[in-house]
Amino acid sequence: MTATAFRRRSQPDPDGAAFLNALPHPVIAVDGDNRLRMANLAAEQFLAASWATLAGRPLADILPVGSPLLGLIDQVRAAGGSVSEYGLSIETPRIRSHTVTAEIAAIPDHPGWIAISLHERSIALKIDRQLVHRGAARSLTAMAAMLAHEVKNPLSGIRGAAQLLEEGASPADRALTQLICEETDRICRLVDRMEAFSDARPAPRTAVNIHRVLEHVKRLAEAGFARGVRFVERYDPSLPPTLGNRDQLVQVFLNLVKNAAEVAPPGEGEIVLQTAYRHGVRLAVPGRAAPLKLPLVVSVQDNGAGIPEDIRPHLFDPFVTTKVNGTGLGLALVAKIVGDHGGVIEFDSQNGRTVFRVLLPVAPPDSEPDEP
Ligand SMILES: Nc1ncnc2c1ncn2[C@@H]1O[C@H](COP(=O)(O)OP(=O)(O)OP(=O)(O)O)[C@@H](O)[C@H]1O
Ligand SMILES: [Mg+2]
Repeated sequence: MTATAFRRRSQPDPDGAAFLNALPHPVIAVDGDNRLRMANLAAEQFLAASWATLAGRPLADILPVGSPLLGLIDQVRAAGGSVSEYGLSIETPRIRSHTVTAEIAAIPDHPGWIAISLHERSIALKIDRQLVHRGAARSLTAMAAMLAHEVKNPLSGIRGAAQLLEEGASPADRALTQLICEETDRICRLVDRMEAFSDARPAPRTAVNIHRVLEHVKRLAEAGFARGVRFVERYDPSLPPTLGNRDQLVQVFLNLVKNAAEVAPPGEGEIVLQTAYRHGVRLAVPGRAAPLKLPLVVSVQDNGAGIPEDIRPHLFDPFVTTKVNGTGLGLALVAKIVGDHGGVIEFDSQNGRTVFRVLLPVAPPDSEPDEP
């Protein structure tokens, strides 16, 4: 296979050049000497050069000196398989500055060759930038203070009423009153945390079993806002715990499931909760020598109409909402908490299928357990 044959054939062909050109993301392939052997149209645009000038050129000539991408390519070439790196920055005078997610995979049919796909969509990093944005931070802090003030008083009333009801309740109803008590307690704790939104102190962390978090969220959802929605659970039973704050993680998935339930088609709503362990997902963190490993993937998928195109670029900003009674704080809080956990959130959305994926680190073996 020659470079030009791969790239230029205009008929539909088994090499898939036409398909690769249809993709909006840059995709390139290099041979065993790291010379460019394939680039789709999006890659030509990204690299600000035509295929005529790119064909056969060493990648090292095009990327900045010492680019971590080259090290990752060598790593994949040596170990096989694939690696995803989040938050990789690529900057040259020619192609300017980009923060990308790079997926790097060996091409088994061509020993030594490596396929690289770049996505300019490292949402977590954008979120971070958005949240340090002064105005947003200030409004969130004000919001938190107001919430704390307005929410805590009625909560103690609700809790007291639930306890009274519990006395005469049947065992089935008692499960519900207990749910009310547990939840009011959790909201109280969260409000306390929200008050400290501007406060950089970390919330207490333990080794949290994500499945227990999802179970709890599902139970709450089914008893309330997601009544009538079908839940499908696809859990990897061997998933190790993450290091985090359980209440905050419940909040994250509750907000995602609530959004999913709110767009579910009436009578046919389906929410898929999925967990998986993915090797080779790493986040490059500025100022940290080694990238963070984020192998836990927790996703919430719905079959709603998809996220409106116009709000996608600002989806995680506070006060972005399309709902009459929405605050637009749900996803801002999700992004903040996921970021505080050292994780990443990303989404894919189209009509009939929207997935939010939260990538989290694994708890170190010596972390304190969540509950005895
Ligand atoms: N699963 C989804 N499918 C389609 N659109 C979504 C989905 N999740 C979020 N959105 C869009 O993103 C917007 C922001 O969501 P966010 O959770 O931040 O606020 P909200 O749901 O509008 O308000 P609140 O969370 O306060 O009830 C929503 O208004 C909606 O337009
Ligand atoms: Mg919401």
